[in-house]
Amino acid sequence: MRIDVVSIFPEYLAPLDLSLIGKARRDGLLDVRVHQLRDFTHDRHQTVDDTPYGGGAGMVMKPQPWAEALDAVVASGDAGARPRVIVPGPGGMPFTQALARELAEEPWLAFACGRYEGIDERVYGYAADDLGLRVDVVSLGDYVLNGGEVAVLAITEAVARLLPGVIGNAESLVEESHEDGLLEYPVFTKPASWTSPTGTTRDVPPVLLSGDHGAIARWRHQQRLERTAARRPDLLHSSQAADGELAAYDL
Ligand code: ADE
Repeated sequence: MRIDVVSIFPEYLAPLDLSLIGKARRDGLLDVRVHQLRDFTHDRHQTVDDTPYGGGAGMVMKPQPWAEALDAVVASGDAGARPRVIVPGPGGMPFTQALARELAEEPWLAFACGRYEGIDERVYGYAADDLGLRVDVVSLGDYVLNGGEVAVLAITEAVARLLPGVIGNAESLVEESHEDGLLEYPVFTKPASWTSPTGTTRDVPPVLLSGDHGAIARWRHQQRLERTAARRPDLLHSSQAADGELAAYDL
């Protein structure tokens, strides 16, 4: 998969060199190219923003540098190839595991990182109508970040780990929170009996030491239901939990 990122803070994307994403890049599974938006300006101050028409607080990103940046990204690809463009922003569609799976199917993503109050709306029209790009605004959640860069790190990590070969143990992708609409069960490792620095001893739930795989699977499923009911009751109805299982929870 190829990923282009356009930003006025390319250094923000440095973590994409680390860990499994960095390894995926070195292994040739992921081709990440980060571009400085200011390289597409033509004035001495490399201006990327200006005041909003109609008044109001803050600054708006100018259309011309964005148009040229998108032109350059498209031109760097194979003839006829088009990236799917993602603009991170709090006004976008929610980023979910389902969207991560959808994006993992794309051969080419291009992230446009806005800052300030956002990008001049005409850039969206240019990208869609003149360049033939699919553009989606995507939000990490109902809170406001200073810009799209942190969202790009999160989205790229969630997408790239779904690519074949990026995670060594593909099984670990299956039993995760959000893969089937339930949160994960709690996990434990050695020692079976652990005494904390304050002197309290806490034991691993005995069923996990029983060797009874059926009982362990049932316990874990029950834990997932209880956790989801406690922390994310909104998820339970659309999860794959059976209706009978949900009756126990006061939703
Ligand atoms: N940029 C600013 N806030 C954001 C959010 N919540 N999600 C994605 N990108 C953002």
